[in-house]
Amino acid sequence: MALIAPSLLSANFLNLAADCEMLNKSEADWFHLDVMDGRFVPNISFGLPVIEHIRKTTTKVCDVHLMILEPGTYAEAFKNAGADILTVHIEACTHLHRNIQQIKSLGMQAGVAVNPHTPVSFLQDIIADIDVVCLMSVNPGFGGQKFIPHTLTKIKELRRMIDEKGANVKIEIDGGVTLENAKSIIEAGADVLVAGNTVFKSANPTETIAQLKKI
Ligand code: DX5
Ligand code: ZN
Repeated sequence: MALIAPSLLSANFLNLAADCEMLNKSEADWFHLDVMDGRFVPNISFGLPVIEHIRKTTTKVCDVHLMILEPGTYAEAFKNAGADILTVHIEACTHLHRNIQQIKSLGMQAGVAVNPHTPVSFLQDIIADIDVVCLMSVNPGFGGQKFIPHTLTKIKELRRMIDEKGANVKIEIDGGVTLENAKSIIEAGADVLVAGNTVFKSANPTETIAQLKKI
């Protein structure tokens, strides 16, 4: 059974409290929080004060996905805002090893996100040091995009790498996850499914989360 991480990027920003409450009562495992800087990705979402408020509404895991340049500058601030998992992009980090050590020394779990064009083999020398790999199955920046099918091959390759190393790393799939493709994603070896539009644009989000959880 996969963990379900609804992405609040697709929530109702005028009534976030209601959506947080819905998630708390649902079978959702993690709150997936997408931070964008308008530089690493061509969009701006929300930042520290919003996460600080969301943190107060939940005891569930706050999984913060940083789509920003120079994420190390803000690691401590996101810890203070309440992040449990802090994920940085491999493409945004010149000194990824240092960034990972910083995140862990601040007491958070460390995640590394990879864009669709980045081979998973680039994770070979860092995989034993991290807790989560966030495999982007769309180009980051927007919710509601279509799942890139090649991601399935990447999941299998990453699973093999993790198993060979005996590493304790979760594979999280982010972008275009639906009730239709979730099964093939889990079968390929995913542990965590992020879902934005699939959850929040559905008629009954709580029920959609329950359905994803059952797959
Ligand atoms: C995309 C974000 C995703 C996004 C997923 O840049 O990282 O987390 O919110 O949204 P859906 O599930 O709608 O593709
Ligand atoms: Zn995300």
